[in-house]
Amino acid sequence: MLVNLRDVCAIAEQGNMAIAAFNTPSLEAVRAAIDAAEATGYPVIIQHAECHEDITPLDVMGPSMVALAERSHAQVCVHLDHCEHLSYMRRALEMGFNGVMYDGSALPYEENVANSVRAAAMCSGFDCGLECELGSLGAREGDVLSDGASAPEGGSGATYTDPVQACDFARSTGLDILACSFGTVHGLYRGEPHLSFDVLERIRERVCVPLVMHGGSGVSDDDYRKAISAGIRKINYYTYGVKYAGEAVLDLVDARRKADNSATVYWHDMTTVAYERLTADFIEVMKVFANGADPQAS
Ligand code: 13P
Repeated sequence: MLVNLRDVCAIAEQGNMAIAAFNTPSLEAVRAAIDAAEATGYPVIIQHAECHEDITPLDVMGPSMVALAERSHAQVCVHLDHCEHLSYMRRALEMGFNGVMYDGSALPYEENVANSVRAAAMCSGFDCGLECELGSLGAREGDVLSDGASAPEGGSGATYTDPVQACDFARSTGLDILACSFGTVHGLYRGEPHLSFDVLERIRERVCVPLVMHGGSGVSDDDYRKAISAGIRKINYYTYGVKYAGEAVLDLVDARRKADNSATVYWHDMTTVAYERLTADFIEVMKVFANGADPQAS
């Protein structure tokens, strides 16, 4: 069933947990995320990033995401991730997305505010919550997400979210949830992630809306728990899931070729293995993000 972004984050707030937000630019990923939600009993967010348009267009992915979410008995929010163009956002809203992110984090502050206000006005005619971003994770999210390249350790060029500005931003824009930068990066970590919980706690003290962690895969369970304790309610998770799925496909090909050097490996064998690996990974991380919350309570 469809549950909008505001309501899904309210469930997270009540349970002192974070909702997993999986980027799903393939049918295997959509199915894995929804099946993981059904298996664990926790709500899930499935999201399409504007920069994934070249992997699978919104016109193809969006209606499939909405249809599969509607017929599931799990609580599913269908969300647009890192949208930089309001015309693209409108298309998602008209398809039935019930969460959208306007990302003006690369723009000067005033422009980010002005466009986020426009995004909020656009959402008001729909059953849809709005996420906006302040601060930058360093490498442009779009670049990293679209080519899967590794992000620099510590996010060179990263700007942590300013807690005082975050308060003004939340008040001025009408956003429902705030994506903030406190040390995570999109893509593969080249070393240990170093998160600044101090920054996160100072944002939490000043901003009362739910907070979002981007660059959420590849972080230790301990850091996930600390981030949740400091107010993170949505964790965006992509790179490490698709890395594990890619490795599972390579293992399959290796095993088949070892048994028979000229073995044919069909595409559907690969998508099946990828789906199974993604599902297992998603179940595991959803349990960590649940932070001990009772699935019956959600
Ligand atoms: P990762 O790809 O680093 O997990 O980040 C996902 C993300 O933040 C999508 O917005």
